[in-house]
Amino acid sequence: MLIEWTLNGRPMRSEVSPFQRLLDYLRTDLKLLGTKEGCREGKCGACTVWVDGQIANACLMLMGQLAHKEVTTIEGINEKDRFTPLQEAFLTNSALECGFCIPGMLMTGTALLHQNTNPSRLEIRESLKGHLCACTGYQKILDSIEGVGLPPASEGQARMRVRKP
Ligand code: FES
Ligand code: FES
Repeated sequence: MLIEWTLNGRPMRSEVSPFQRLLDYLRTDLKLLGTKEGCREGKCGACTVWVDGQIANACLMLMGQLAHKEVTTIEGINEKDRFTPLQEAFLTNSALECGFCIPGMLMTGTALLHQNTNPSRLEIRESLKGHLCACTGYQKILDSIEGVGLPPASEGQARMRVRKP
């Protein structure tokens, strides 16, 4: 079937099998490898993308569901090839080890911050309950999202909305 959809801000017309998983279309057909393949059962969060601005597991979405939808992947969240404030926070806090889970964490963390610019620690934990990380112990990931959510101490520090380690 032919679907019209939007991917990372670009209008797309794609001939697809309606039963192909979005995860496979992204990684195999489009070579967009930032969206990771983990459990393929909706349990690990590694494949998290946004569909119409809401987080979704790409392993559970079928291409046939995406007509006229807007999909954003980790490759699409940067402005002008710069790191987002949350990406900078992950780097500053060293909130990654192998990095496998991080694109999904960034998609969910960014979506949370779009909805709530100053989430509580509990709200951040709740938002990440669908994500598994084998490496970090989560604390630095939580610190990073919380740090970006904190209001800047002064106007001059607005760009550095990152908690110091
Ligand atoms: S690969 Fe999709 S949730 Fe694990
Ligand atoms: S940093 Fe390795 S799985 Fe999270």
